[in-house]
Amino acid sequence: MPLNIVRNDITKIHCDAVVNAANNGLVGGGGVDGAIHRAAGNELDKACQKLGGCPTGQAKATKGFRMPCRYIIHTVGPVWQGGNAGEPALLASCYRESLRLAARLKCESVAFPMISAGAYGYPKEEALQIAVNEITQFLLHHDMTVYLVVYDRECFQASRKLISDVKEYIDEHYVNEHFVARNTSAFPTLRSEEMPGLGMSSVPAGKAARKSTPMMQEVTADDGMSLDEMLCCLDESFSQMLLRKIDEKGMSDAQCYKKANIDRKLFSKIRSNIHYKPSKPTVLAFAIALELSLDETKDMLMKAGFALSHSNKFDVIVEYFIKNGRYDIFEINEVLFSFDQVMLGA
Ligand code: APR
Repeated sequence: MPLNIVRNDITKIHCDAVVNAANNGLVGGGGVDGAIHRAAGNELDKACQKLGGCPTGQAKATKGFRMPCRYIIHTVGPVWQGGNAGEPALLASCYRESLRLAARLKCESVAFPMISAGAYGYPKEEALQIAVNEITQFLLHHDMTVYLVVYDRECFQASRKLISDVKEYIDEHYVNEHFVARNTSAFPTLRSEEMPGLGMSSVPAGKAARKSTPMMQEVTADDGMSLDEMLCCLDESFSQMLLRKIDEKGMSDAQCYKKANIDRKLFSKIRSNIHYKPSKPTVLAFAIALELSLDETKDMLMKAGFALSHSNKFDVIVEYFIKNGRYDIFEINEVLFSFDQVMLGA
């Protein structure tokens, strides 16, 4: 997945380059800088001394030494001074310059911490927005997997208003529905084997299976078609539907998979195999990229054998965004992340 937001210790991430939130002297410090220097070992200190410091907004690389990465890219974020001292441009430059350097070093995967969002005091919400904007802009023109590593949950509270709107929607559509379901069950105290029509009778397993499995009989459908005939005229597949929708929306393939935060290689697999079975987050990522309505999204999910369910928090959250016509996949992922759900595009 091109942009992957993960909660982890950045020193544990295996990738080509890890970005360090350093200081102008590149002399090591606390926070993520301290953690990286400890994990990489003394050789990193020596390599940094040779670099002669680094201006704010720029980036310089060393080897990874004992870290599980080939390179460490040291960038220096701005110290927050209230927002009128060029902080946004300098922070954006940190991400841009680090990514350019990673591309020059032929890195295919890069992990960033939230630069400036700790000791340098940059407001976390705004720092996150700049990080996501710069990384997604870069990924429009480069094939790379980028991890944005969020250490503390507080860092990732997207927009508080958005989170509270989604919470309200979940409360209405998820919690209540479960509450009602539990309390209005027709058989509140029965176990499944006691419920009429739910199987588990005293019929031996083999017989029960034959009884309940129409495929085991001579199969002819109501309209007299044989199984072979039915299999010959399957409906449009997920892959076919996706390609048709891309054309109908006047998008290029690349525009679509990039907007869906889907890896080019995965898209090629889907394109070349009409029977490709995608995961549910992948289908939903495409539905978001194509800005499908809720009904169209349900159709697309059905093609891949899925449905949207109000018993599932992930589904309710995605439904909230589709119903409200909000199709920014990174905004959705920020909210999914806040609710501990898997993200779209995986
Ligand atoms: N993995 C991932 N993220 C981490 C880790 C870690 N091991 N440790 C800290 N963080 C997070 C912090 O929670 C914060 O959100 O990294 C973000 C950046 O915080 P800082 O490390 O304080 O970086 P920054 O705000 O850019 O300040 C840089 O601090 O350590 C010094 O030498 C450094 O002077 C420089 C300044």
